[in-house]
Amino acid sequence: MTTGFTRRQFARAGAAAGLAAVLPRGVFAAPDPYYTALIRADDEIGLVRPEFHSHFAEHLGSCVYGGIWVGPKSPIENVEGFRKAAVDYLKELGVPVLRWPGGCYADDYHWREGIGPVAKRPKRVNIWWGNYVEDNSFGTHEFIRFCRLIGAEPYFAANVGSGSPREMRDWIEYCNFPSGSALADERAANGSPEPFRVKYWGVGNEAWGCGGNYRPDGAGAEFRRYASYARAFGDTKPFLIGCGPGGNDAKWTRGFMDALAGSRLPDGYSIHYYVNGERPPLEFREHDAMTQMNTFRAVEQAIIDQRELLDSYDHGRGIGLFLDEWGVWDRIPKADQERNGALWQQSTMRSAVAAGLGLNIFNRQADKLYMCNIAQMVNVLQSVLLTDGPEGRNCVRTTTYYAFMLFKPHRGKTAVRVDGGPLTWDGRNLLDGEVMPIPSISASRNGSELVVSLVNPRPDQDMDVECALRGARARQGRAQILHDSDLNAYNSFDHPDRLTIQPHEVAVEPDRMRIMLPAMSVATVTLEVE
Ligand code: AHR
Repeated sequence: MTTGFTRRQFARAGAAAGLAAVLPRGVFAAPDPYYTALIRADDEIGLVRPEFHSHFAEHLGSCVYGGIWVGPKSPIENVEGFRKAAVDYLKELGVPVLRWPGGCYADDYHWREGIGPVAKRPKRVNIWWGNYVEDNSFGTHEFIRFCRLIGAEPYFAANVGSGSPREMRDWIEYCNFPSGSALADERAANGSPEPFRVKYWGVGNEAWGCGGNYRPDGAGAEFRRYASYARAFGDTKPFLIGCGPGGNDAKWTRGFMDALAGSRLPDGYSIHYYVNGERPPLEFREHDAMTQMNTFRAVEQAIIDQRELLDSYDHGRGIGLFLDEWGVWDRIPKADQERNGALWQQSTMRSAVAAGLGLNIFNRQADKLYMCNIAQMVNVLQSVLLTDGPEGRNCVRTTTYYAFMLFKPHRGKTAVRVDGGPLTWDGRNLLDGEVMPIPSISASRNGSELVVSLVNPRPDQDMDVECALRGARARQGRAQILHDSDLNAYNSFDHPDRLTIQPHEVAVEPDRMRIMLPAMSVATVTLEVE
């Protein structure tokens, strides 16, 4: 089935491109550049784990208090104290795993302060995010309830920096031991007789920084100590995640892993990689956007390098690599943070493109990754939902929400290899000599469904992209797109649906598809193949 292009146009373009052959330079002199790729539908990379689309919620600004949690007495519509709009939108999006309570906050959080009657819970100063006072009304039970409401699996980050192995051990027993121990019975008395069966346990957060300012060998030694007591209480074996570096720091990983010689290895190893922006979110110029998008090359390289490092250790292959915090971190205006909470950052068309670049990387590196958590879920950094401050009744789905929606069909499929044309992610932009990520493509397949995601990160250029198909023949297809010609466009409280997913044209023939990607766009094509 062919839609959107005439057969003649398709054939002309196909002939010019030579279908995924290496194109002569001259072709790119054309004002409307033409890119080719080859989708190898039978060349499998690995499972696109749904966990690649996981999230992170920290006690920071208005992420938890005022964002997710408004309290049962709030005038804001809520379900048992959880903001109803957030619950509804997140359920629709599907959140595989949710990490909590930090971030930096995790290493100053003492879980016992967040259980029992709310009125008796101590008020504490949040030392990391503005010294404001939290009343601990959102604690372990509330977090678990929220996870159950949205269908997410909980992931706790335990306190190493200012905590103790006993505190972590007790938290695991409190959550997971069925009954009969003092801690299990306390959980039951607090309203949850059934064990929570929490699988994922982070052993600290950013040990090299806010998590205790450790050196890598010291962090490794702490992991050994904490892991000794982190047992399977009941039928849930804790999956322990060790603290890796910020960015692609090989020295940290070697130091940490060397310190573990002869002892229990982590089940997971977490790296954090933010993609910084030099401008306030609504003031990006083309060049700033391109600079930020280019950083994703380094994120991909970090995944490759850190995987290789882990693999070089005995049994290191069995360690799951987590990109535990990722996303764009722009220069956030003070006024936005004062009005709406710390690190409240607007998500624009550029942010959605950034999300698309990240999610494409996860598909392409599917065999190297275990889980990825975008930072953060609501009102902080690259969030999928924004409210107008902690008191705000408005709750909008951001451009990042829609980028994640576009990638949802990849979950549970098998990623397959895509070879780019001469202008690829890893290549050089022959138009102006700069290194540029153009266009970014990934694909996954499950039986008769082949899903292809394409991102045009250039703010200044539309792209015609032709993908030849190997190992499968397409019967028909449909495309969806998120696009705005203004790279700073966003969903505001006045115009919450300015950017939403729209149907898009795609030309499909048995051995190829062709699509026009406008400047700054994220598209997903679903092909029925045989
Ligand atoms: O996500 C915000 C902060 O970034 C987290 O608290 C910390 O882990 C990271 O440095």
